[in-house]
Amino acid sequence: MCDNCKKPYYITTPIYYPSGNMHIGHTYTTVAADTMTRFKKMTGYDAYFLTGTDEHGQKIEQKAAEAGVTPKEYVDKIVANTKELWKLMNIQYDDFIRTTDERHEKIVQKIFRQFYEQGDIYKASYEGQYCTPCESFWTASQLVEKDGVKVCPDCGRPTELVTEESYFFRMSKYQDWLIEYIESHPDFIQPASRANEMINNFLKPGLQDLCVSRTSFKWGVPVDFDPKHVVYVWIDALSNYITALGYGTENDQLMQKFWPANVHLVGKEIVRFHTIYWPIMLHALGLPLPKQVFAHGWLLFGNDKMSKSKGNVQYAQPIVARYGCDALRYYLLREMPFGADGNYTNEAFLTRMNADLANDLGNLVSRTVAMIEKYFDGVIPAWTDAVDDTVDKPLHEHCAALPRLVEEQMDKLQYSQALAEIWKVIGECNKYIDLTQPWVLGKDPEKKDRLSNVLHTLAECVRYVAVLIYPFMPTTPERIFAQLGVEDEGLKTWESLSEYGKLPEGTKVQKGEALFPRIDIKKELEELSPQPKEEKKPEKKEQKAEKKQEKKEKKVEIPEGCIAFGDFEKIQLRVAKVCACERVEKSEKLLKFDLDLGTEHRTVLSGIAKWHNPEELIGKNLVLLANLAPRKIMGIESQGMLLSAVKVNEDGSETLRLLTADPMMPAGAEIG
Ligand code: MSP
Repeated sequence: MCDNCKKPYYITTPIYYPSGNMHIGHTYTTVAADTMTRFKKMTGYDAYFLTGTDEHGQKIEQKAAEAGVTPKEYVDKIVANTKELWKLMNIQYDDFIRTTDERHEKIVQKIFRQFYEQGDIYKASYEGQYCTPCESFWTASQLVEKDGVKVCPDCGRPTELVTEESYFFRMSKYQDWLIEYIESHPDFIQPASRANEMINNFLKPGLQDLCVSRTSFKWGVPVDFDPKHVVYVWIDALSNYITALGYGTENDQLMQKFWPANVHLVGKEIVRFHTIYWPIMLHALGLPLPKQVFAHGWLLFGNDKMSKSKGNVQYAQPIVARYGCDALRYYLLREMPFGADGNYTNEAFLTRMNADLANDLGNLVSRTVAMIEKYFDGVIPAWTDAVDDTVDKPLHEHCAALPRLVEEQMDKLQYSQALAEIWKVIGECNKYIDLTQPWVLGKDPEKKDRLSNVLHTLAECVRYVAVLIYPFMPTTPERIFAQLGVEDEGLKTWESLSEYGKLPEGTKVQKGEALFPRIDIKKELEELSPQPKEEKKPEKKEQKAEKKQEKKEKKVEIPEGCIAFGDFEKIQLRVAKVCACERVEKSEKLLKFDLDLGTEHRTVLSGIAKWHNPEELIGKNLVLLANLAPRKIMGIESQGMLLSAVKVNEDGSETLRLLTADPMMPAGAEIG
């Protein structure tokens, strides 16, 4: 489709304060905006994504002074780091605006002058409580009390009494119009609960006129007709969404094309600025309002909002360096519904990585490719007449419906739900493998046609998944396509999902590395944040004597052939989930397992190749004798023993089957 025929879509993040480096909270919003942009571009929109930095204000001025550099030098460094971080996170913004850009400052001055000339702004003397970190004035009734001191209701820090001659914006004039607008545009503020909050807490009690200039510091956009004043940072900052599009200049094609924005993504703490001051500014300029302001929740750290001043910050860089950018992007978008708060913990991140990425997605891809290699010499087989409607049809239909299901969720900015829809199909594919048992079909040459369909189905579903995860995890699809042997760009598009079954037969698959390595969570956690090992306290003399006495009293006769309970207690049996299983080269008997024990992984060898196919065991819960001393077999260390039941047949031969544990039990559960 030509660019001019495409529907425009404009999305923004807040412009961040470069008072320090961006952490995982800022990364969260930016990843969400990037994902939506990619999704819209993929689904045929001409999408435009703006981010940037909000560089003026007293706080930056103070920070720079502390660092002994000019404010511009200070922010230049942080902006360079921010751009590096966005590159690392694979963020493809269309423009990065800085409020120190000349293109921005000039238009902010023009806007301010227009407000003054048309009577929206007037000059008066003002006294009020000011919070410097939030760059906000508060009325006495808005302040909250903390330890006997009146503090800022947003950040909880002390405010200062400031008296200034200032310019004021007549917000009160627009109050009724705004209430009416919000009430008649239910989609404008999302989630809807935020709209009620704005109306009940800010608009209905009565809007105060807003102080929109400062004389107490210099680092800002000067009011051009009264240069001892600088423009209030929020008036300066909010304007970025239109100055970046060339508003107020001759070169305003982007403005013509992309305004009003489709959505401003903002954290919940700045909804007020975006749904009260910004709409009033736009209305005063005679411009339409953005279609939506979406307030997402906070990433918390132990129930507290992450913030540098509280010292509880997590940065993206160390996580990406260890686990890759796609894993972090997936976690951020999957873990919490967009709009709600959620905790970031390394443990939750690693658990999700193992379960969703290594096990569910990773296994599906590797099993599919491995079976095509094994049964069809690595060539994707044809779709044949050997259909089993009871199992094939539901999966085909679900897969065909998936793009629409994902789009429905993305239209509501429900990233987590969109991913959940994709993962439902992944789960169904893994179940389909269990149901169709390709390893059984593979033994019977007459079932070749059936096997062909099963593997074609799996390959096509994997292709759907690869196409659909692209906006969320932009680098993973190419790795999947490489394994599937899909080179044709036409098979990687949204349009290629319009009809199920487009994957042609005959492409050569190529087994690759595991998409996401399985992680030994316990070990990783120790390395990520080394924790002191608990020291065992020496037992006191009396305690030892007491225990000895107890033992004596409990001593009972043990019948021949039995073991003491104490001996049984020494045995550690655990539920072990099979993550991978393969034959050991040059051995007819041995299978090699990679077992998940919840907090660690074990390699275990078992001499059961005669009775079990590796593929059928993947994902199963087996029973492991976990505290058997490790031993080396054919050069590989086996760390435990899998339990099995043996039946002696009439001819004296044996049939052996591995013991399984209930699939509902988590990996690592103790058996006893
Ligand atoms: N400069 C203003 C925004 C002006 S927009 C015209 C500002 N900057 S900020 O650096 O404080 O960034 C705030 C934004 O960063 C939040 O609105 C949110 O999008 C993101 N986040 C910062 N910390 C966050 C969390 N802990 N969790 C989630 N998002 C967070 O406010």
